[in-house]
Amino acid sequence: VSSDLHLDLDAATGRSLRARAEWALREAVRSGRLAPGTRLPPTRTLAGQLGVSRGVLVDAYAQLAAEGYLHTRRGGGTTVARAPSTAAEPEPDPDPGRPSATTTAPAIRHDLRPTLPAVDVFPRAAWASALTRVVRTVPDERLGYAHPLGEPEWRATLAAWLGRRRGVRAAPAQVGATGSVRFGLPLVWDLLGARGVRRVGIEAPGWPRIAESLAAAGLEAVPLPVDGGGIDPADVIRHRLDAVAVTPAHQFPTGAVLASARRTALVSWAREQGAWLLEDDYDAEYRYDRQPVGSLQGLAPDVVLYAGSASKILAPALRLGWLVLPAALAADLEGRDPWPLTGTPPPLDQLALDDLVVRGEVDRHLRRQRTRYRRRRDALLDALGAALPTCPIEGAAAGLFLVLRLPAVADEEAIVAAAAGRGLPLEGLRTPGRPGLTIGYANLPEAAAPAAAAELAAAVRSAD
Ligand SMILES: Cc1ncc(COP(=O)(O)O)c(C=O)c1O
Repeated sequence: VSSDLHLDLDAATGRSLRARAEWALREAVRSGRLAPGTRLPPTRTLAGQLGVSRGVLVDAYAQLAAEGYLHTRRGGGTTVARAPSTAAEPEPDPDPGRPSATTTAPAIRHDLRPTLPAVDVFPRAAWASALTRVVRTVPDERLGYAHPLGEPEWRATLAAWLGRRRGVRAAPAQVGATGSVRFGLPLVWDLLGARGVRRVGIEAPGWPRIAESLAAAGLEAVPLPVDGGGIDPADVIRHRLDAVAVTPAHQFPTGAVLASARRTALVSWAREQGAWLLEDDYDAEYRYDRQPVGSLQGLAPDVVLYAGSASKILAPALRLGWLVLPAALAADLEGRDPWPLTGTPPPLDQLALDDLVVRGEVDRHLRRQRTRYRRRRDALLDALGAALPTCPIEGAAAGLFLVLRLPAVADEEAIVAAAAGRGLPLEGLRTPGRPGLTIGYANLPEAAAPAAAAELAAAVRSAD
């Protein structure tokens, strides 16, 4: 039983000491600070702590018990009532940034959200063992304040692993741990802003987090249209930009792959102009019927900032990501005092993922996942071909989602809403004149694909 309730009678409202004690206690219960079931100290103890006479608290406890906030049992002490007389406030939305379909829609029947990996096959046992190993073996001195760019062995492992898997070229000193791609963005814009970057090209349509993070950093986002080969470097040149953010391996949300001539043109532009490229390599580990596309960073480590995370490889709930910086920017950072906020994930979690990567567990998991995702994708392709045979599919060669193109006259927003209403959350392309649906299949078992496609076809027809 904690006897210190942190009641501040000086800050409380009320004329008399008794009124203030009541008010402070009531607020502590109403705000939820004292949770239901919490045992209050005896009035004598609390009176001693607050420097008031015991009678004040006897009265306050009695009043609040009468109001239903406290529960008093003879000989059993006083506890915060389990059902306070006031109605509880609604729970806040834990992630207000999520698309509304995921928070307001009815129960999900087929989860077609394009941003999730298969959450049903997260390697729970392997993760638990890795964390246990780390917690058991980490030396005491490693439990102090850690380097803001991450644990040294994890940075070294990342440099080698990203080199092997994605063709990334970087020394460990250029690699940092982030709390996923999203939580690394403030650091990216901070570093580039300090280098004079003001106008940043972003893909349109694109991942909303990029535009949001630019706005938060006070930088200007310049939308660049995306076609079947990604963004067009001609637009980049025309807009006189200082930097461009791209998803070269699998554009979100169109699924386009940045055409090879465009990759080289972007790199040349950046080098000539002293500009920068941000490569968001969020789901590049998954490709099915095309040659692997290496990272843009591997082509030009001097001008590309590379961002990735474990969100698609393992699960977003790990909140573990990485950032690879050109050597010059990494040097800028080392010289900074104070350090900009980097959102570094917990060191013990970094070490656990390091352990899994070093043991080859993550490679094994990816191998299994690639087979699973290919089967799920193929099942969805077949089912969509049967249920909506006139709608072309795009962007299906890689990643965890595909795009179903809709007829030009289709009302994309109404279809997305109708699908959500039927328990099929997914996203629209949100590109004027080019309606389409971005459909995730990571969480759609093969056996469920025909039913999901039939339900989707019904949603498309109902919105006609
Ligand atoms: C384009 C894009 N980038 C990055 C991510 C991953 O973000 P994070 O690493 O913050 O989970 C996603 C997830 O959906 C995405 O769609």
